[in-house]
Amino acid sequence: MPEPIQSLTTVDDARAFVAAERAAGRRIALVPTMGALHEGHLELVRTAREHADTVVASVFVNPMQFGANEDLDRYPRTPETDTAQLIVLGAEALFMPEVEEMYPDGGRSETLVTAGRLGGVLEGSSRPGHFDGVLTVVTKLLSIITPDVAVFGEKDAQQLFLVRRMVRDLNLPVRIIGVPTVREPDGLALSSRNRLLRPAERTDALALSRALEAAGAVAAEGVQAMLAAARAVLEREPGVELDYLAVVDPATFLFAPDDHRGPAQVLVAARVGSVRLIDNAVFAIA
Ligand code: PAJ
Repeated sequence: MPEPIQSLTTVDDARAFVAAERAAGRRIALVPTMGALHEGHLELVRTAREHADTVVASVFVNPMQFGANEDLDRYPRTPETDTAQLIVLGAEALFMPEVEEMYPDGGRSETLVTAGRLGGVLEGSSRPGHFDGVLTVVTKLLSIITPDVAVFGEKDAQQLFLVRRMVRDLNLPVRIIGVPTVREPDGLALSSRNRLLRPAERTDALALSRALEAAGAVAAEGVQAMLAAARAVLEREPGVELDYLAVVDPATFLFAPDDHRGPAQVLVAARVGSVRLIDNAVFAIA
């Protein structure tokens, strides 16, 4: 029988739990999520286990990182199955606060951690304020749980980059671990939003991963060839409305110049029906 999981809903309870674990000399890992857990999240929890004695997952749909016209209200919420999956994986604790617990002052935070210039490009350009919301809630979670390590997915490449950057800029005492994107056998990157796709849209959504593959196949020819190959795949799919397609240097997250050599990260965001999806992959330009 798996051990029962500590279900924590208040900041005080979370702090007390963590204090007891620390007093027992245990290393703590945090896996922040917005729930509707899938195999990608579960891989984060497994990775967390490799780096810590005590794994704390958080499930919190953070209103601050959703824009006014975004999908906060219909974001999938499956707390029972989330809890059951975390029990099976042997996570020690689940921190699942209400909005009022995280934001007692009317659902917002007056003080923000801002993502700066890189928070305003790509995802940040399409979703103004999104990364300030992400970094603010991640800072709050790090401050509440004080983990030794925190685990994030490479699927949200810009988020992972900005979290690492924040930890460096603010000297936060935590190690950030990135986990490669978990995909369906046909290539679709797992996402909580996939469950909002109708069957035909699910098929259309494959254009994102196929576009990345097409870019990778011509990586030897450079940045422009990669962009053209990916765009060709996306434009063939009438059900896919492209938001952005870009190649960045993963070391800086700046747009890669035409003569870029070395690791090149292809990023794509598109709307499939009413669902906005993102994906990315890193290839080497020799
Ligand atoms: P959420 O979208 O629930 O994702 C939680 C974590 O799971 C993120 O680090 C994300 O990159 C990772 N993840 C999602 N899909 C993945 C996949 N297919 N393979 C590997 N990892 C995957 O990202 C957030 O929540 C929020 O912004 C959060 C960081 C929790 C702050 O609110």
